[in-house]
Amino acid sequence: MTNVPRHVAITMDGNGRWATAHGVPRAAGHRAGLKPTRMAIQECARRGVEALTLFAFSSENWNRPPDEVSSLMTLFVDSLDREIDELHANRVRVRFIGDRKLLSVRLQARIAAAEQRTAANDGLKLQIAMSYGGRWDIVQAAQELARQCSSGSIRAADIDEARFASLLQLAGVPDADLMIRTGGEQRISNFLLWHGAYAELYFSPVLWPEFDVAELEAAFAFFGGRERRFGLTQAQLAAGEAMKVREP
Ligand code: IPE
Ligand code: IPE
Ligand code: MG
Repeated sequence: MTNVPRHVAITMDGNGRWATAHGVPRAAGHRAGLKPTRMAIQECARRGVEALTLFAFSSENWNRPPDEVSSLMTLFVDSLDREIDELHANRVRVRFIGDRKLLSVRLQARIAAAEQRTAANDGLKLQIAMSYGGRWDIVQAAQELARQCSSGSIRAADIDEARFASLLQLAGVPDADLMIRTGGEQRISNFLLWHGAYAELYFSPVLWPEFDVAELEAAFAFFGGRERRFGLTQAQLAAGEAMKVREP
């Protein structure tokens, strides 16, 4: 397939509604989200996608009822334990983005171990966004820049987009090309505010537990049909100038 996005980012939404529709607790909806998660990782790796970022838990999701938060955290620990061997065997490099200080010590330990174990893998770059918010990400980078300014190691005028981006959680990962959101809502919900600047947005009505290969294919086909202009005119694109804008 031509025109494969380098970086796909997915907001995995709709577990709760799926659970309600099936008369089961919300936690069961989150568990049912594991199957499409595995599928998305496998399919993106198979298609040669370079990076996949999955939105698993937002900064704002901490405000959900405590029993739902704790069932999600348990699910994260259990899933990591269960999946890490296979991810590693498939050469997936796993990283977590988000405010990990807020996570339990147990989960932080699993995360650190998974990152360390897979750090040298040369396959799919998988980022799991947990306790993540796009605004938090920007603010933590701004704080670091402020520290560097006040210590005198840089001047305010040294701050440019490249330096800023180097302090964001996704440093080293290309901008998102295709952002998919399941569950029918057409909003960003504080996901990748910086890296999504020029992403193509695909909104699927399918609830995450029912997201399947056909729906992922539909998202890729949508992406393949887009003309990405990056602010240029069609004539400039025809003259092959788009790459200059993307990679100055
Ligand atoms: C997404 O599904 C998972 C998380 C936000 C953790 P939801 O739990 O938001 O499902 P809906 O939107 O209530 O259906
Ligand atoms: C976004 O979904 C976060 C994740 C899927 C992890 P939400 O369900 O939290 O978003 P809103 O509340 O509908 O905007
Ligand atoms: Mg939701």
